[in-house]
Amino acid sequence: MEGFQLSGLLYLVATALFILGIKRLSKVRTARSGNQLAAVGMLLAVVVTLVAPEGQVQLSWTTVLLGLAIGAGLGAVMAKRVKMTGMPEMVALLNGFGGLASTVVALAEFWGRYEMHHGDFVGPNSPADVSNILLGGDIWAVAIVLSVLIGTVTFTGSLMAMGKLSGKISGNPVLLPGRHLLTAILLLGGLAAGFYGVFAAEGSMATTLLFTLCGAAAIFGVTSVLPIGGADMPVVVSLLNSYSGLAASMAGFVIGNSLLIVAGALVGASGLILTMVMCKAMNRSLANVLVGGFGESSSGGGGGGGGADEYTGVKSAGPEEAAMILESAASVIFVPGYGMAVAQAQHVVKELGEEMERRGAEVRYAIHPVAGRMPGHMNVLLAEADVPYEQLWELERINGEFKTTDVTVIIGANDVVNPDAIENPQSPIAGMPILNAHESGTVLMIKRSLSAGYAGIKNPLFERDNTFMCFGDGKGFLVDVLSELKES
Ligand code: TAP
Repeated sequence: MEGFQLSGLLYLVATALFILGIKRLSKVRTARSGNQLAAVGMLLAVVVTLVAPEGQVQLSWTTVLLGLAIGAGLGAVMAKRVKMTGMPEMVALLNGFGGLASTVVALAEFWGRYEMHHGDFVGPNSPADVSNILLGGDIWAVAIVLSVLIGTVTFTGSLMAMGKLSGKISGNPVLLPGRHLLTAILLLGGLAAGFYGVFAAEGSMATTLLFTLCGAAAIFGVTSVLPIGGADMPVVVSLLNSYSGLAASMAGFVIGNSLLIVAGALVGASGLILTMVMCKAMNRSLANVLVGGFGESSSGGGGGGGGADEYTGVKSAGPEEAAMILESAASVIFVPGYGMAVAQAQHVVKELGEEMERRGAEVRYAIHPVAGRMPGHMNVLLAEADVPYEQLWELERINGEFKTTDVTVIIGANDVVNPDAIENPQSPIAGMPILNAHESGTVLMIKRSLSAGYAGIKNPLFERDNTFMCFGDGKGFLVDVLSELKES
């Protein structure tokens, strides 16, 4: 009894660490420590689960330690190897594994207990102490079905998202004929099979029906991601992250582990909030994203607009001219975007910022919430280059400052500075909040060509009187600007 209370208390401590960790993740300054807090919480949760007297571990310690070593080893290698631009794919894969884990846990519990004790739902090792409070046998069976359903959808949906993000699967939306009917058949058929399997079927029939549910859910995961354009995958990944939390929560009900229920619910809720934040920053509804048809190409430009022939009166500047413009600037705002990530230009951006400060200029960095391809993309890159946090200004705070700024340097950003969003009600991105870079004295826009960004649309900023297009790779161009400045 004492053991149970101690483990319950330690679970509470782990939960508190998760909540504090997530809270700290919401601010750049505290994100690193938030991550560490949550990791400590997870370590505590794993240790308590393994050593608590009422723990469910029926495996030998050798097996447990081998599993931990393989998992931790693979995780460490993947985390070390992944490039910053490959992060969304890695997150998608990990979400998928989370979903798969919930499915496997639910199936194992089903075979281990339900089949042996069909009818009373309470096996010798069942979490009777927790299930008394949390659930009766019927709810346990419902949790099995939901865990398998959501976990499997998350698994195959995440693999699809990963394939689309990495370009291994075409980023084009695939609209299957009769897909709504197919969706209904898969969902209703799968659920019917699952519920019949856990409530009414006997012996191997129950297993066959649960596998039918798995199959239907796996196909549903694929068909629900197919119609969504590759460039919308970060939103989908965030939503699937939320699903993986729900599946884990259901698995928590299945094995009667209160910490898993709470931690899963936290992931489910925070994933959903993040999804909504991303949709809001793109001024799109979740339904619009899920139905597909926007940002069809994972490499950008999918909307088909924004070709070079659409622009007139574009002025360009080389590194030398750009350096001359910067020489006389008393205030500079850097606007990083997806192209900065592609070019890995964050370090040279920071060096240029320092050079400008040495020359007495005020330097700030404007961060748009959906710049790049994943939440916090620009924050992560600039933090990696050790840009001081106080120089990072969020959209709402910096937008009033462009009017009084001499030069705005845009590095590989496009949609997030497109004035059409606020000036042209017909634009596909009308209403999307943008950084008002066009209001500053001079705009230096560094990108390789006149091609479009993720939204695939024309950007009238290229043609503005105060804009100089600086054609070139983000990093290469800035290296040249910096050496020009240092020579002057
Ligand atoms: P984008 O509008 O996608 O524009 C990126 C630009 O970078 C491209 O126009 C490209 O032009 C340029 N570029 C690519 N490689 C480059 C390189 N090596 N050097 C210099 N420039 C390079 O990027 P953004 O302004 O960051 O906007 C993000 C977009 O993604 C938004 O539409 C947003 O809604 C969407 N989105 C974001 C997220 C998250 S969470 N961040 C999620 C889903 C969707 P060139 O080819 O001419 O070089």
